[in-house]
Amino acid sequence: MSRPLPDPAALPPLGSVARSAMLLRAFPLEQTDPAAFYSLLAADSVRQVAHYQPLAGLTLLDVGGGPGYFADAFRAAGARYVGLDADVGELSLHGRSVARDTVLGSGLQLPFRDGALDVCYSSNVLEHVPQPERMADEMVRVTAKGGLVFLSYNNWLAPNGGHETAPWHYLGGRYAADRYASRQGKRPKNEYGTSLFRTSVAQMLRWTRDRQRAGVVQVVDVRPRYHPDWARWVVAVPGLREVVTWNLALVLRVPL
Ligand SMILES: C[S@@+](CC[C@H](N)C(=O)[O-])C[C@H]1O[C@@H](n2cnc3c(N)ncnc32)[C@H](O)[C@@H]1O
Repeated sequence: MSRPLPDPAALPPLGSVARSAMLLRAFPLEQTDPAAFYSLLAADSVRQVAHYQPLAGLTLLDVGGGPGYFADAFRAAGARYVGLDADVGELSLHGRSVARDTVLGSGLQLPFRDGALDVCYSSNVLEHVPQPERMADEMVRVTAKGGLVFLSYNNWLAPNGGHETAPWHYLGGRYAADRYASRQGKRPKNEYGTSLFRTSVAQMLRWTRDRQRAGVVQVVDVRPRYHPDWARWVVAVPGLREVVTWNLALVLRVPL
């Protein structure tokens, strides 16, 4: 169901402890009141992107955008929003109708020409594709010179990395999925090896360094998406970062 978007100006400041606490309190709502949860997450996320790149008048592609909460929030910020998703069922989740300006397709092979978009955004999709580097390369390819790529994902060893099978994914993805199936009487929606993969923090930092060295991207920011500013350092610590980053945000610019 649609509901009014939270006013981004009324949210606690980006990078503040209060903002992280607000998000932490909101996460349980994902199950009980998804519209409230996703409206809040979308308003917060759009504000985070706009911190790096004012969005008014820019064409933005949201890879794996889902049922349109992000569409509403990006449009409210003045962007020309184009959504793409691989699953038509996801586009109409929570009783929402398929959003306008939405393309059915895969992040692994984006149906756009090189440099077609001003901003390429993706939230919590990379862990659902078997070749995350390929999706990241596709996002860079379709972004115009001078444009922004904002790519964030839930890494595998995060406490919620196993999605509905967490925390049992720490004992192995296959085990966690089978355990879920035996308890719930159905396979998990996010099935390890099929629709959920072991994407690490180190893996995408390596990709970022490689592409930066090749001059394909400039790194604007690399940070834990939901953490306060004081906790940014966790991304720099091998091992620890896999458990405490939760969600890695890569903010990149395509050089002019
Ligand atoms: C966890 S949801 C994230 C939705 C939204 N971006 C968000 O942050 O709430 C993952 C989305 O990725 C989509 N997805 C999975 N594989 C994809 C692919 N190869 N290409 C594009 N979208 C994909 C799913 O259909 C789903 O809508």
